[in-house]
Amino acid sequence: MARVFSGIQPSGGMHLGNLLGALRNWAAYQSEHEAVYCVVDLHALTTAPDPAELREHTLAAAALLMSAGIDPERSTLFVQSSVGEHAELAWMMECTVGFGELRRMTQFKDKADRSDFVSAGLFTYPALQAADILLYDTDLVPVGDDQRQHIELCRDIAERFNHRYGDTFTVPAHVIPETGARVMDLQNPTDKMSKSLESAGTVAILEEAAAVARKFKRAVTDSENEVRYDPVAKPGVSNLLGILASASGRTPQAVAGEYTQYGPLKADTADAVNSLLDPIRNRYAELSSDPAEVARLLAAGADKARTTAAATLKRAQTNAGLLPRPPLAPSS
Ligand code: TYM
Repeated sequence: MARVFSGIQPSGGMHLGNLLGALRNWAAYQSEHEAVYCVVDLHALTTAPDPAELREHTLAAAALLMSAGIDPERSTLFVQSSVGEHAELAWMMECTVGFGELRRMTQFKDKADRSDFVSAGLFTYPALQAADILLYDTDLVPVGDDQRQHIELCRDIAERFNHRYGDTFTVPAHVIPETGARVMDLQNPTDKMSKSLESAGTVAILEEAAAVARKFKRAVTDSENEVRYDPVAKPGVSNLLGILASASGRTPQAVAGEYTQYGPLKADTADAVNSLLDPIRNRYAELSSDPAEVARLLAAGADKARTTAAATLKRAQTNAGLLPRPPLAPSS
């Protein structure tokens, strides 16, 4: 059975892009694959979030994943920092990736341009991401389009390590959906929808239905009135078509053929999105009232994850020439 791994940052305010680009596909993989999903709190530390907020967002992210259909009985769902092997293998990944390779990462360049303080962790972030993936002998990594470069770098790192030290890691492939892989901001449709940029153009998964409808009503389009899928010339309209297509399982071109005006397109897109979000919001309301249960499920997930992660880390350490770890001395 192919193994699937993916991760999401607990930065708060998970949005429609996360859902259409990633989470929906994560849920779909559970039936025929061995799925491992992770709330990557160590990655969030790269931007020094407030500790109380990080704790709250980590539990909220896990509850949201469960609400969006990730079943902790069928998948392994856990928090990254609970499995120490991630940080440990990340060092070996840092020693395998090139400085020049990291410097070419567009996500790093974008985030560094927007930050006053650029941590070394933000720079080496893709090495930790490679560790996340490679620890689980992952075959497939379902992600949105913005993660393509990181997964390609992870492949290069795995191949380099295998070449240096002998066969150690499975070389993974990304899976990027045909629609919904790049949901754009409703107000600035040339920027991707993002939780780190505060904008009236971001639709949060937990936002109320009326607020979602209002955001779509106010979505930026253009001064023409032709409904046509053309992301370069008509980014706003094309984004709406892409969202509606993804939410209703069609192609943007097929959706475009059904509309002659922007108003009905916006209203139908809002309705389709609200039908996707309604059950998630309802389940979240139940789950978030019991954070102890969420924490218990995450602890069980971390236990499962650790077994695979420990075996892979040991293999990588042995192959690279690190001595076996001596057993802990009995405490006096
Ligand atoms: P993150 O937390 O930014 O996003 C989680 C997932 O959502 C997708 N996504 C989008 N898809 C479509 N349109 C958008 N506007 C949009 N915004 C986000 C992302 O592509 C991603 O799939 N580095 C990763 C987290 C990570 C990871 C991993 C992912 C850490 N380790 C290992 C895969 C495997 C990140 O910051 O995703």
